[in-house]
Amino acid sequence: MIETIQWIDGAVVMIDQRRLPLEEKYVTCRSFEEVAAAIRDMTIRGAPAIGVAAAMGVALGALHAADDGLDAQMEKICATLAATRPTAVNLFWAIDRMKRVYASVAGRPIAEIRRRLVEEALAVREEDIAICRAIGRHGAALVPDGKTVLTHCNAGALATAGYGTALGVIRAAREAGKRIDVFADETRPFLQGARLTVWELQQDGIPVTLITDNMAGHFLKSGRIGCVVVGADRIAGNGDVANKVGTYTVAVLAKENGVPFFVAAPISTLDLSLASGAAIPIEQRAADEVTHVFGTRIAPKGTAVENPAFDVTPARYVAAIITEKGVARAPYEESLKKLVS
Ligand code: MRU
Repeated sequence: MIETIQWIDGAVVMIDQRRLPLEEKYVTCRSFEEVAAAIRDMTIRGAPAIGVAAAMGVALGALHAADDGLDAQMEKICATLAATRPTAVNLFWAIDRMKRVYASVAGRPIAEIRRRLVEEALAVREEDIAICRAIGRHGAALVPDGKTVLTHCNAGALATAGYGTALGVIRAAREAGKRIDVFADETRPFLQGARLTVWELQQDGIPVTLITDNMAGHFLKSGRIGCVVVGADRIAGNGDVANKVGTYTVAVLAKENGVPFFVAAPISTLDLSLASGAAIPIEQRAADEVTHVFGTRIAPKGTAVENPAFDVTPARYVAAIITEKGVARAPYEESLKKLVS
């Protein structure tokens, strides 16, 4: 299995997702600031993996904080990590979890506080792998046998602590003996599909075909695609789903062509405090991600650019939301609440 993120000798070690698949290099973060930078520059990315990194970042910060004034330092550590990327709610979920643990050991000896925070961060990572496997088990039954699964971005082992959400469903379907292959959208502009999903599935020997984003409609119409499975960065109470930009386009095309569109995500990706996807903050990223490919300019100088990193798919396009606790279907206001409780 690919090791996306690990805690080794008091440091956080991540596979560098900016370099894949050309180079398999690991980055070691020795401070919470380095973890924050790694989340911001997408050395590590994908909602659950960002959550694990944030939890480890908090632990690392506490480990290196001065013994005096830990409360104020913890506030700074958490605020720095929370300011890295706005859309994936797993980031805030993980930081809140670490804050709760910190509150629960208030007044205890500093060594115990540090130990508890490290233990909790390791638990977040371990649980994430188990959660992905449970998502896979629930989702595998929904995948039609003998067909192709279309996915967008990378919601795989690289986007989690291991196994993946959308790719976890695909892995579990294959493990259950289903004869499926995968179409991966390249996912402009950061190319998570071309660089990460294809690489990751090739490591596992799962047959994968790369298509450009604008080919999705053509293949959804062809009858070859049995279902679409994607991940999510944040799911609102009504079932609206924020995921990598381009997901909405795929969802509409899937519905138009009668292909079920499934979202696979852990409960920690649900944000039931939001009534709809309209309230989900959408990260805007740098223009050069669009005007340049691997450092080479492809658009004229001075080109006006929009670069929203995510879009919101309305719940009416979502055939089911697959979580570790089971599968939710419309009406999502009721089914999601039920899963959480
Ligand atoms: O910008 P990214 O690469 O962090 O975006 C990732 C996605 O949109 C994933 O689909 C999502 O986080 C789910 S990962 C299991």
